[in-house]
Amino acid sequence: MKSKRASDTAGYTSAMRAIANLAPMDQKYLHDPFSLEFLPFPWVLTKPLFSTKLLAPLIYNIGMKTPDKMVGFPGMTSLACLRHRYIDDQILLAYKEGIRRFILLGAGYDTRSLRLSLPEATMLEVDHPDTQTRKRKILREKNLQPSCKLEFAAVDFSKPWSEELFSHPYIKESANEPTMVIWEGVSCYLHEADVLSTFETVRHLLQSGGVFIFDAFSAELTKSETRIDILRKMREFVDRKGEPFYWAEDIDPLKEKLASYDFKQVDAITIFDIATNLSNKENLNISQDEILKYLAMFHCRC
Ligand SMILES: C[S@@+](CC[C@H](N)C(=O)[O-])C[C@H]1O[C@@H](n2cnc3c(N)ncnc32)[C@H](O)[C@@H]1O
Repeated sequence: MKSKRASDTAGYTSAMRAIANLAPMDQKYLHDPFSLEFLPFPWVLTKPLFSTKLLAPLIYNIGMKTPDKMVGFPGMTSLACLRHRYIDDQILLAYKEGIRRFILLGAGYDTRSLRLSLPEATMLEVDHPDTQTRKRKILREKNLQPSCKLEFAAVDFSKPWSEELFSHPYIKESANEPTMVIWEGVSCYLHEADVLSTFETVRHLLQSGGVFIFDAFSAELTKSETRIDILRKMREFVDRKGEPFYWAEDIDPLKEKLASYDFKQVDAITIFDIATNLSNKENLNISQDEILKYLAMFHCRC
C-alpha cells in the first residue's frame, strides 16, 4: 500500500460492487447498495448516475468495461464480485449453523455489517489504519448503522500484528467462541512470510473451532517469465497503482501448507467453478472469463 493513504484497491473493489448492483436480472448475483457510499475519487463524481434508473443499463455497460480497459482484459468486475458473493453465502451459512463471531482481515469497504442480517453477531474489521480511518469517517458522517455489533482493530500486516490483535478487548473476551475469519483480496499483496504468519494467527483465532475463508491466485501470477498474458497485464496494472502482488500459490501445495498449520478440512474452488455453479443454481447468465480460472477460494475448517 502507498504510505499515508487509504488503499486504492479497496476503493476499486467497492466501485466494482457498485457496478454489479446495476446488472440486469439475468446477470445479477450481488446486491451491495452501500458500496456507493465508499466510492473513491474520481468514481465518486459519477455517484448521481448510479441512482438514475433510466441510465442503469448504460452505466452498467460502461462500468463493466472500464476496469477491463484499465487492466487490458475482461472479467475483473466478475472476479471481485463473484468472490464477494461466495463469501456472503458462506457467512450466512455459518450464521445459520450458529457462528456469531466474524473477523474480517483487510476488510476495506466491506459493507456486510450493514447489509446482511446478522443481528446476534459481532463483526471485527481488521485493516490498515489508513484505510480504516477513511472507512470509519464515512460510516460516521453518513450515519450508517450496522445490523450487528461492529468492532474495529487497526493493524499493519507487514509488521508483527498478532499480539496487537490478541490484546484487543473483544478478542480477549470472546476467545472461546467459534469463529469465522474472512481474508478477502489481501493475500496477494503480502510477502510469503506475512502470509504464513497470518495462517498461524488465524489458527489461534480459531482455537475454539470455526472456519477460515480466503482467496489465493495461482502461482503463475508472480512468475516473472509467465506466458499467460492476462496475469502479466494484471501484475503490471497493480504495479502502476503502487500496490504490487508478492504472493500466489497453486491449490494443491497450498492445501498441504494449510494442513501443516493444523487446518483440518481444506476445500478449494476456483471462481470459474463458482460462476458455473451459480449460473446453474440461479439460472443466471454469468460470463465465464479466463481470469476466473486463476483465483481460488479456500474454505478451511478447524
Ligand atoms: C483489495 S483490498 C480488499 C478489501 C476488501 N476485503 C474487499 O474485498 O473489498 C485490500 C485490503 O487489504 C488491506 N491491506 C493491504 N495491505 C495491508 C497491510 N500491510 N496491512 C493491513 N491491511 C492491508 C487494505 O487496506 C485493503 O483494505
